[in-house]
Amino acid sequence: MAIEHTDNVISLHTAHSTYQMMVDETGRLLHLYYGRRSAGVMDYLIPYNDRGFCGNPYDAGNNRTYSLACLPQEYPTFGTGDFRSPALEVVTEDGKSGCDLRVTGVLVENGKYALEGLPAVHADSSEAQTLVVTLEDKNVPIKVELLYGVLPEGDIITRAAKITNTGNQRFYITRAMAVNLDFLTGPWDLLSLYGYQGMERQMQRTPVTFAEQRITSRRGTSSHQANPFAILAAPETNENSGSCYAVEMVYSGGCEILAGRDPYRATRLQAGLSEHLLRYPVDPGKTFVVPEAILSFSATGFSDLSIRLADCIRDHLMRGPYKHKATPILLNSWEGCYFTFDGNKLLALAKEAKEMDLDLLVVDDGWFGKRDDDTSGLGDWVVNEKKLGMPLTSLIDQVHDLGLSFGIWVEPEMVSEDSDLYRAHPDWALVTPGRYPVRGRYQLVLDFSRPEVVDHVYQQLVDVLDQRPVEYLKWDCNRSIADVWSNGTSDQGRVLYDYVLGLYDLLERLGKRYPKMLIETCSGGGGRFDAGMLCYSRQIWCSDNTDAIDRLKIQYGTSFGYPTDAMGAHVSKVPNEQCGRITPIETRAAVAMAGTFGYELDPAKMSEDDRNKVREQAAFRRANEDLIFFGDYVRLSDPYTSSFTAWSNVAKDRSAFLLTAVETGIQFADEPVRYVKLSHLNADALYRCSFDGKVYPGAALMETGIPLPQAKGEYHAFQWRFETVR
Ligand code: GLA
Repeated sequence: MAIEHTDNVISLHTAHSTYQMMVDETGRLLHLYYGRRSAGVMDYLIPYNDRGFCGNPYDAGNNRTYSLACLPQEYPTFGTGDFRSPALEVVTEDGKSGCDLRVTGVLVENGKYALEGLPAVHADSSEAQTLVVTLEDKNVPIKVELLYGVLPEGDIITRAAKITNTGNQRFYITRAMAVNLDFLTGPWDLLSLYGYQGMERQMQRTPVTFAEQRITSRRGTSSHQANPFAILAAPETNENSGSCYAVEMVYSGGCEILAGRDPYRATRLQAGLSEHLLRYPVDPGKTFVVPEAILSFSATGFSDLSIRLADCIRDHLMRGPYKHKATPILLNSWEGCYFTFDGNKLLALAKEAKEMDLDLLVVDDGWFGKRDDDTSGLGDWVVNEKKLGMPLTSLIDQVHDLGLSFGIWVEPEMVSEDSDLYRAHPDWALVTPGRYPVRGRYQLVLDFSRPEVVDHVYQQLVDVLDQRPVEYLKWDCNRSIADVWSNGTSDQGRVLYDYVLGLYDLLERLGKRYPKMLIETCSGGGGRFDAGMLCYSRQIWCSDNTDAIDRLKIQYGTSFGYPTDAMGAHVSKVPNEQCGRITPIETRAAVAMAGTFGYELDPAKMSEDDRNKVREQAAFRRANEDLIFFGDYVRLSDPYTSSFTAWSNVAKDRSAFLLTAVETGIQFADEPVRYVKLSHLNADALYRCSFDGKVYPGAALMETGIPLPQAKGEYHAFQWRFETVR
């Protein structure tokens, strides 16, 4: 049984972890424990002390040792004397703030709860159980249902909440967290992923301090800057040892993750919605759903934590035709052609792609409306046959006739002022009345909080996609939301949340209408790389920076919280378009092969030798799909500190692995030999290496490692497959 409920204690057990809470004598829900799997009741952990300036709730009477300012809680609210960050803040229409929640019900069900209109982990009744703890306030007509999903085999616990108005007066939600975790002991480090366009998900590790740290996006999207993922780790934790907790939002709008230590050395970790412009009205009888967060714990370091998260996303978030399937190797037109192409050029790309043994041609930006640069055309999803010189149907048919799949780029949430859509419906853009809007890449954002806007875009896309089978759709989003004003509502505090619901609605509808279509989402590269998106799209374009060496850090950070086979990664030309660096094509391919793998260049400008190499690379990737798409991704070095970056894709049964190592600096002839230390192998097995045919013992590979050859020149890569010797 994953969920145990005895008397007043509720325990959630997974294979390697236990999460425990308690309903105390006042009916409040206290948090007892989260960590290594454990039997028993951990209520002895809670200290009851009389602390100055820590108020006591009225029903504690004269007991000055009972204070919510100090007690560990499951869902702390503002207004109870807990002065730390609340999980929930509500304010009534007449200005009363706060609520005091007590447990009124506990329900355990088989299977995993779902959230209407929002992405969530899915699992059947043999894989998961759900706990619903209902809390109410005697004085404020509010019902809070805390939802816990427990996936014991995967070591995953999910959390979400539903907030219902049970009274007859509207209230507003101004802060809503999916998860609150109170730790009584410490100290802890916080690992988080910051970045910007072209350098997403850079790793930051800092101690959790007495000043609260917030990872917040105020951009309406999960953002390049503040990825909605964090790890709380004991300071000594590394890849293969130490305790660590991951929290990951399954949401693509603005999120907040907060970590702070209080003066009594307790740490609070929270994850939920960004407070930015949040003032969501909840009318009598209505329910507000707080998006889901995924939690996982590892007592054996970061690698196992990442593997658990990757498996959870692969098995329980991803859907569609490419769930548990390797994705096609594609050629994308963007860096090779930008906006300058016609149908014949695209057909030439398709022929080259076929000759190089690739699977799919993707026509990126520029095929619709008036779109010869990025100043116009967004919103007009009508094929520009004049530019193509042929109907889209003819282009698609010819690509299909070559034996290639066809894909196309769209940016459905955006509108250019120079577009027919904007001229017809200027009120559909998010613009604050009386102000000039902020432009981003010259464009404005459509008001996806309004169903009629979403319906219109849906119909336009359907008119294109219905023409012929389209096997792949790239969904882009090339700016942040700066002006939050909808002409469709008088409650502007709901717009950012409703926008995300509109976005999910459109993605869901397209996924249902085109069940065989592979969707790759994108936001100026990886500006919306989050678990919410992975419920609708099998892969996400990882970064607009295609430089293999910069990608090492981007992909390293991404791998902590996401399956690497979801990272859109392409080989592009050299010198690299973003930073001018020159790297060998083997290295570019080795790095892109960590992700979805494809090419983004003009093959006509490649040498015959390089085109042959592409064919070999495509064959190599196909031969290793079993490990890349179904194995465990294991980081073997830190690109911030090491002169090489290495990782392995290890078969779940440890029978084989693919080792990739990339040199990031020039090697001098007399430099010490560098060893890559493996992990997650079978210590008792012998592995034969595809490169030199030699046999290596698993234990020694993990203890001492394997020497990297001394290479002359810059940025060499090694990709070796190892198989157990039978
Ligand atoms: C964004 C994407 C790119 C490309 C361009 C097209 O920047 O990240 O891959 O699709 O838009 O305008």
